[in-house]
Amino acid sequence: MGRNPALLLVLFSLLVGLAVADWNILKQRGWSNGLNLKISLKNYCESWRINVELNNIREFDVVPDECVDYIGKYMTSSQYQVDSERALEQCTLYLSSSFAWAGDGKDAWIFDIDDTLLSTVPYYKQHHFGGDKLNLSSLEGWLKQCKAPALEHTLNLYNEIKGRGLKIFLISSRREHLREATVDNLLKVGYSGWTELILRVPEDGCQEVQKYKAEKRKQLIDKGYRIWGIVADQWSSLKGLPTAKRTFKLPNSLYYVA
Ligand SMILES: *[C@@H]1O[C@H](CO)[C@@H](O)[C@H](O)[C@H]1NC(C)=O
Repeated sequence: MGRNPALLLVLFSLLVGLAVADWNILKQRGWSNGLNLKISLKNYCESWRINVELNNIREFDVVPDECVDYIGKYMTSSQYQVDSERALEQCTLYLSSSFAWAGDGKDAWIFDIDDTLLSTVPYYKQHHFGGDKLNLSSLEGWLKQCKAPALEHTLNLYNEIKGRGLKIFLISSRREHLREATVDNLLKVGYSGWTELILRVPEDGCQEVQKYKAEKRKQLIDKGYRIWGIVADQWSSLKGLPTAKRTFKLPNSLYYVA
């Protein structure tokens, strides 16, 4: 231990303060000054990520430049997979709990598609992990190639829910012109047997996604469906009324859909 703990504390605070205030400059200098500074940027970016997940940080167009590396690492890490698995484990637990299906064909479950059933991480990997502003025509061009892999943990849950006899509805903010590619991609990676695939048509194209998805849920409820759960990676797929009995949020800090 140092002889002068107070001085050490002051120095440490200064270093931390410096790191928090100006990590861009420090980063450009190559992080040669030791571990503490490095941890500060990591702390900042992890806190940014968590606050996206908590829905405190909203409406962001791009991942902050200084966190692109961090978010890229997270979204391709086993931690991301473990976090997703943990979320979906709660669905399984919920499904196994004591409530009983009516068995009248009106028990329903909703899944979002992108970064819920299918992963767009390979696309974002080629586009600066959310650090570039979204180019819709470029993203849709990629989606049309039907190369999005399945998120394996969701595929397992999907099959479990299907096996229990619930009707599965896919409500996506993908546009109608992507229907064929979407179906092809889903089938190719192992999803099948959904009851309806709901995509956006020009008439609801200007609405916020949250409002569009809530409206689609209302239409299902009006048809007599009981929506037991929703699995999605965006808050706009989960919020708004009417909703499901339970909702499950998967991690995604690459982009924000309002
Ligand atoms: C968006 O992507 C398209 C197709 O890849 C490309 O032609 C266009 O230049 C891009 N627009 C911008 C603003 O980068």
